[in-house]
This record gives sequence, C-alpha cells and structure tokens, in this order.
Amino acid sequence: MILKQDLYCPPLFLAPMEGVGDKPFRSAMARVGGFDWACTEFIRVPLTPHIASLSKQYCSTDTAPIPQAAQIMGSNPEHLAQMALALQKRGAPRIDLNCGCPSNTVTGKGAGSSLLKTPELLYNILKQMVSAVAIPVTAKLRAGFADTSLFRENLLAAQEAKIAFLTLHPRTKVDGYGPPARWELIAEAKQLLKIPVIGNGDINTADDAVRMKKLTGCDGIMVGRGAVANPWIFHQIRAKFNESLYQADSGAFELYLRHYLSVLDPQLETRSRISKLKQMASYLFRANDRLTNVRSQVLSRTYESEDEFLSFILGFYL
Ligand SMILES: Cc1cc2nc3c(=O)[nH]c(=O)nc-3n(C[C@H](O)[C@H](O)[C@H](O)COP(=O)(O)O)c2cc1C
Repeated sequence: MILKQDLYCPPLFLAPMEGVGDKPFRSAMARVGGFDWACTEFIRVPLTPHIASLSKQYCSTDTAPIPQAAQIMGSNPEHLAQMALALQKRGAPRIDLNCGCPSNTVTGKGAGSSLLKTPELLYNILKQMVSAVAIPVTAKLRAGFADTSLFRENLLAAQEAKIAFLTLHPRTKVDGYGPPARWELIAEAKQLLKIPVIGNGDINTADDAVRMKKLTGCDGIMVGRGAVANPWIFHQIRAKFNESLYQADSGAFELYLRHYLSVLDPQLETRSRISKLKQMASYLFRANDRLTNVRSQVLSRTYESEDEFLSFILGFYL
C-alpha cells in the first residue's frame, strides 16, 4: 500500500559526472537550484598519492549554498582514509567513495567498480575512512562487477562499516550504461538495509522520480544525465511531488549558459570554450523534442566566438 507520506519529495542529489559534471556545470546547476546535495566528480587517489596537493582539487564553495560532497576513488584503505581527512580539513561536508566507475583503466588498478569484487576490501576502506573523519562518509555503488552475485554482501559490508547512507546505481560494471537501470534492486537494497538508500539511474522526468520513489521506497533520489539535459528537473520533481507544475522563466536558459561560461576556466582557448558549450548543448537539445532536428546543425557548425554560439542556439531555444 502506498501512503501519502511515501510520496513526499525525498532529498534530491545531483550525481557526480566526470567530464560533464565539472565545476562550471555544478556551479550553474547550483544557480538553478532545486536539489539538496551536489558532489564532485571523482578525485582519483593513485597508488603513490600526494594527498595534500590532490585535496586542493576540492573547493567547498563551488555550489554554495548547496553543500558539495567530495567523491574519492582508489583502492588503498590508508590512502583513502588520509585523503578523506585532508578533504574534511578543506571543508568538505561529506566524503563519498566511488564504487562504480566502469572504466577499464580504473578497474585495472582495483578501484571504482572493481571494489565490488571484494566486499572485505570495500568494508576495510569504508571503515578506515569512517574512523578517520568526523563528517559523514557515504558510498556510491553499482549492482556488481560482472554480475549481481555479491550484491547483498557489498551492501551489507558498506552498512557494517557504518557509512551514513549509500547510493545505488543498479547496473553492473559490465552493463556500462546500456540496459535499463534495474530499479527492483533499489527496492531490494531498501528491504535489506537499515541505512538510507538513495536511488539513481534513468530519471529523465519528474514522473520517473515519483515512479522510482513509489516502486522502491528509496530515501533519496539522484539524477545525473537527466539534469544535464534539463537543468530544471529538480524543481520539476519537487513540484510533481507537490502535485503542481514548475515552469522555468523565459530567460532561464540563457542565464544558465552564461553562468556556465562565466565559471569556465578563463585560460581555455575560445575553441575549447565553444567545444564545452557544444557538449552542454548536445545534452540540452536531447531533452527537447522541438530541437532534435536542429541538433546536428548546431553542433557541426563552426563559431567564431562564444556569443555567436549563444545567439545561434538561443534563436532555436526561444
Ligand atoms: C559522463 C559521466 C560521468 C560519470 N562520472 C561519475 C563519477 O565521477 N562518479 C560516479 O560515482 N559516477 C559517475 N557517473 C555515473 C553517474 O553518477 C550515474 O550513476 C549514472 O549516470 C546513472 O544515473 P543517470 O541515469 O541519472 O545519469 C558518470 C556518468 C556519466 C554519464
């Protein structure tokens, strides 16, 4: 039975996304607002790390006033615990461990989704991180590496290490991003665990978010690609849970892109800045049926300046 209280909007999380969810994106998203937590892309902790300089990649004010967790990725418990402590000192309000990255370069070094092959190591890493800091430690897991045979062991190992909550992206490493996210595994994690479970995967509309909450009972919802395609999705999700609608202002799209540009590294050449804008636009256009036809025209054209790009794209968007 679904109770009315089950449909209150749970906390909303902007997903970490290496390459796409960079600082300008997170900052522009924070301007738009509507979500409760941001998270950095993963910060890789290599086998021989220089912790102090690595931790400088984190800046707590990127998404102010929305808190931003720092995500770290590696396989050595001591180094990851030291890194967690260094990030706490830099003002991180929460440290998240990446247990999902599917890249072979990463898994070849035993990090990311590779941790899902060894629940004991996952436990050791999280336990040492939890012991090292006074702030919450969390983990973001896929459903498994090659299959889901260790799914429950991994979830229980993470809980046993006393993390504050976990996020589940219910695909295996081998799935990549191909098959649909298996939301039934989020429901299974909810049944199994006492700690809160944040559901993630394939939320592209406000209706999807309400459906995920209904079907899984998850305690929070994380959105990645759906937010790149539609930066207003979190407001729309909140409105939907409230049985209303959210309509962005007419100038919101331009403001969003201009803010994104204003935070892009000023040292980048115009060509690289335009290429970053095109990357954003390629997602944004996917979410808008009207623009699907002109997407390739916009992306393949050459632009002399950022303003030329903006004028061209805004002409279609208005
Ligand atoms: C380009 C890209 C980069 C990603 N980088 C990260 C990352 O740095 N850390 C992480 O935990 N997950 C990363 N992910 C996974 C997302 O956080 C998320 O789990 C996944 O995209 C499914 O959610 P979605 O359907 O809402 O996008 C990345 C995904 C994409 C598409």
